[in-house]
Amino acid sequence: MVCGWSSIDCVALADNLVHNAQLSSPDGDIVASFDIDEAGHPVYSVTYKGLPIVKNCRLGLTAKEVAADSKYTMECSDIASVDETWQPVWGEYAEVRNNYNEMSAMFRCSSGLDFDVKVRVFDDGLGFRYELPLSHNNYFLSITGELTEFNFVDDYTVFAIPGDYDTDEFLYTTSPISDLDNRLPRSRHSESTLIDGLAVQTPVIMKHPEGKVYVNLHEAALVGYPAMALDVNPQQLSFVSHLTPGADGMKAYVQLPFCTPWRTMIISDDARDILASQLIYNLNEPSKIEDTSWIYPQKFIGVWWEMFVGYGSWAYSDDISTRPGVTDYASVKPSGRHAANNANVKKYIDFAAQSGIKSVLVEGWNEGWETWTEGRKNRHFLFDKAYPDFDVEELSRYAKERGVKLIMHHETSANAADYERQLDAAFDFMNKYGYDAVKTGYVGYIIPRGEHHSSQWMNDHYIEVVRRAAEHHIMVNSHEAVRPTGLMRTWPNWVAQESARGGEYEAMGGNPPEHTTLLPFTRLKGGPMDYTPGIMETDLASHGHGNSSHPGTTIARQLALYLTMPSPLQMACDRPDSYLKYADAFEFIKVVPVDWRTSVYLEAEPGDYITVARQDKNSEDWYIGAITDENSRTAKVKLDFLPKGKKYVATIYADGKDADYRTNPKSYNIYSKNVDCKSTLTLQLAPGGGAAVQLKAID
Ligand code: NOJ
Ligand code: CA
Repeated sequence: MVCGWSSIDCVALADNLVHNAQLSSPDGDIVASFDIDEAGHPVYSVTYKGLPIVKNCRLGLTAKEVAADSKYTMECSDIASVDETWQPVWGEYAEVRNNYNEMSAMFRCSSGLDFDVKVRVFDDGLGFRYELPLSHNNYFLSITGELTEFNFVDDYTVFAIPGDYDTDEFLYTTSPISDLDNRLPRSRHSESTLIDGLAVQTPVIMKHPEGKVYVNLHEAALVGYPAMALDVNPQQLSFVSHLTPGADGMKAYVQLPFCTPWRTMIISDDARDILASQLIYNLNEPSKIEDTSWIYPQKFIGVWWEMFVGYGSWAYSDDISTRPGVTDYASVKPSGRHAANNANVKKYIDFAAQSGIKSVLVEGWNEGWETWTEGRKNRHFLFDKAYPDFDVEELSRYAKERGVKLIMHHETSANAADYERQLDAAFDFMNKYGYDAVKTGYVGYIIPRGEHHSSQWMNDHYIEVVRRAAEHHIMVNSHEAVRPTGLMRTWPNWVAQESARGGEYEAMGGNPPEHTTLLPFTRLKGGPMDYTPGIMETDLASHGHGNSSHPGTTIARQLALYLTMPSPLQMACDRPDSYLKYADAFEFIKVVPVDWRTSVYLEAEPGDYITVARQDKNSEDWYIGAITDENSRTAKVKLDFLPKGKKYVATIYADGKDADYRTNPKSYNIYSKNVDCKSTLTLQLAPGGGAAVQLKAID
């Protein structure tokens, strides 16, 4: 509905040009203003409940075909107001409200780039994007850079990872903006290409120095464009858009007319609202898949963790001269350590069937893993060719008989071009053997074109894979792909991504407990993560395979992560043996849902703690998850979100009194009590600990 100028305050000039156009959120708390500064540059500012957040921030793009600088005029459109709800295929809420005011500020100049800024202001933040109109002189543009600034008025505390063109697998650094230069580590990660100078990655969460407000900066609907990192100017408290270059150094090639992704700010004075915000999904297009009945949320186990802790290997043979598609594998000597063998996979299928876990992921099933050990340059896989000891026909029959699904694995080693070449054969193979989901992987930074993981060309690739997967009714879980930007609304078969430092690092040095109190404020705002919780055997050395990494967690915390790290695709990462050993704790993983009717964030502070309650989408039952950082904590959870008059049995999976993630991670208690909406649960969380609760409705 178009409702004129009701919530815009524009000072009209004689020729219908305006200065200082303001657009407010439906509740009036957030105000975005657009203007031309004294130099003639387009700028914007944002306030929240009267508090200036960012001020005089430059807007614009540069392109090879047009002059770099120009003096602009501004004209504004009418305001449109939208208030609608939509039903995600899966997620934290069965219904999402999409309520905003929208306008366009049209910036025109004589010699530079004409552009519109479309802005939507919601109660929980805003998004704006550049819309480049069709021009008579240029049918396409070669984008050389973006000028978007976020100039903070105060010296916020930032929880950030370093800006990188290839990976997001870092730990967070906490620092005032002004001191980021001294605190942000610049050491290269093995698969990374750190941005020169001082840069941070989005999504980034920031807290006002006096705690007055929280701001999350990110982007939404990253389509046909490179991902944005942020250059930091610590003295100016300023961040500037930094686009990932393509192989030839150009940032993007765009055909006109064109819209960039949305630049987003989620804003609230209550940290819980940042977690609850659906703003990034709201800024994405509705589902392009009409019939979504084949997309389903699920839990899975996998032939995976055992390789991380050292029981076996992905490769069939130790002979690194073995070549997929060239070598006859029947003549190759097996190493004897190959994990994806028929007998082992059957054990996982049996365990999944016994436990009511839907699927089994099998990594290392296909030809090519010998090239993996050789180095980065010459890796090659075949996606329709199984190793001789993985009988795909027999295993898919065996799984089907037991009501279990196999999950496919495609490690591409970042050779996206080769993957696209094989895609149809790979998906046909999956359809033939009844696979519904694939975990893709892009490990490595050398691919033939020399593209970065977050470049325009690669971003097109990820969407192409998801689009073609949808044609084959296949769900995708991509690892090492670009950080998500809410595109799962548009492509609900893109059920999860990694794109952050995940649970696998518990077997590679450990994740400090703080890490999972930050991911929901940062990485998860773009979409669900395949974090792979569920470690029960926290003493990795006890496996006896030489891995002595110390996970930064108690057992109870691993259970809580199923609530605090919501995803429609959740792994139970540990080995069946570990689950048999801790069978009472595993009971929670068996029952916890992965799809929700609604969610209530009860307590939250980035870097410190999160407590959330969620209602199962398919029953009256509720679940609670609470985690803390390295400090112990008492969570007092009022159950007033429960419906009045209804009784529940609460089963509480709590840290033991003596639990501590460093010294005693396996101490836990499980107990039950009857509760209702008037009850309060007191949950004692150990250092690095957590608590998980099932609230089962009594009929
Ligand atoms: C890295 C992924 O994150 C991990 O899950 C996978 O097992 C390996 N790559 C091998 O593809
Ligand atoms: Ca990874």
